[in-house]
Amino acid sequence: MIIWFAIFLYALLLIGLIYIWVDIIRLFIDRKFRECPPMVPSFGRQKKVMIEKISAEIEKRGSKISVLDPGCGTGTLLITLAQKYPECRFVGIEWKKATAKIARFRTRKLKNVEIICQDMFDYPFAEFEVIGCFLMQPLMERFGEKLKKECQKGTIVFSNSFYIPQIKASEIIKIKGLYKFNDIFVYKF
Ligand SMILES: C[S@@+](CC[C@H](N)C(=O)[O-])C[C@H]1O[C@@H](n2cnc3c(N)ncnc32)[C@H](O)[C@@H]1O
Repeated sequence: MIIWFAIFLYALLLIGLIYIWVDIIRLFIDRKFRECPPMVPSFGRQKKVMIEKISAEIEKRGSKISVLDPGCGTGTLLITLAQKYPECRFVGIEWKKATAKIARFRTRKLKNVEIICQDMFDYPFAEFEVIGCFLMQPLMERFGEKLKKECQKGTIVFSNSFYIPQIKASEIIKIKGLYKFNDIFVYKF
């Protein structure tokens, strides 16, 4: 029994290592992949502040609003918010199939969460009042263009760590930290 458990753990470790190496190799050979943020979930103080700020916005609007996480990864941000606000609708878009499957599994009991597996640039943003994202700098200019084109008046966007170069942030929430990227950028449309 113990041997089988050890083999299982070893296999899991091996799969994890292969996954990491495939990503490292793709970083060198695939330009599109280099511009794609890696699957790092929100964490630490940034995650706490993102949840506080999005929660405050939901409470201020006081209705059944729709919240989007473009590039939702495994759904880390959405899960906490969807549990807190069952009357709101939460949508996560994730283009990596395996990651989207994990997000779907993690949110399976939350009736107010929908995980869509596709490129966020092919999905309309117009129906969302609040957008919370954690992407990566090379993607932000294109992301900003999409927001400018599609966001309705009144939409608010919270961006964890990365700024939109062509749009002036209405607020920058400074967060002390060890890394180069720490702040939360707020954009009001
Ligand atoms: C840094 S993770 C953020 C995860 C989650 N938003 C959170 O805060 O925990 C970024 C995710 O965006 C996804 N992603 C990157 N480009 C995308 C695109 N064009 N369409 C959909 N998902 C994308 C990546 O696969 C990755 O899982």
